[in-house]
Amino acid sequence: MRSFFILVSLALSALAQQATIISPANGSTIAAGDEIVVNVHQDEAATDDVQIPIVLGIDPCLGGTCPAPGADGVGTILAKSLFDPQFDPNTPQEGLHQLFNVTVPQIEGPSVLSLTHLQMVGVSGMPLFD
Ligand SMILES: *[C@@H]1O[C@H](CO)[C@@H](O)[C@H](O)[C@H]1NC(C)=O
Ligand SMILES: *[C@@H]1O[C@H](CO)[C@@H](O)[C@H](O)[C@H]1NC(C)=O
Repeated sequence: MRSFFILVSLALSALAQQATIISPANGSTIAAGDEIVVNVHQDEAATDDVQIPIVLGIDPCLGGTCPAPGADGVGTILAKSLFDPQFDPNTPQEGLHQLFNVTVPQIEGPSVLSLTHLQMVGVSGMPLFD
């Protein structure tokens, strides 16, 4: 059952593109308390996909060990929203994307900014979580 699920997941992944954070870039320095704009990009999918929610979280790397997104939770939730990426003719290089203005909590040091994303893919609406 497990290998079946993984194969299905891989096949769906090839059709439905994952959503990714394109800015702030990995390694950016951001200040506690600042409002920042998080740009979430989604490649155009080769099949029907129905976007549902996304969650943006930020989790500090305590003791120098960065939490693995998904394994250890997302930390402070910065945004929870319906994901509705749009094409902006003024920024065609960004493709389908959506901007989220979020406020950075009072945390210090290296931190992981994570994106949790659910979509329903294909005519049968298979759930795909990443
Ligand atoms: C971000 O950069 C760090 C340090 O170079 C690296 O360990 C990490 O894997 C990178 N994360 C992503 C999502 O690229
Ligand atoms: C989000 O932040 C940008 C840049 O600071 C700003 O131009 C925009 O008005 C903000 N949008 C909202 C909805 O607050």
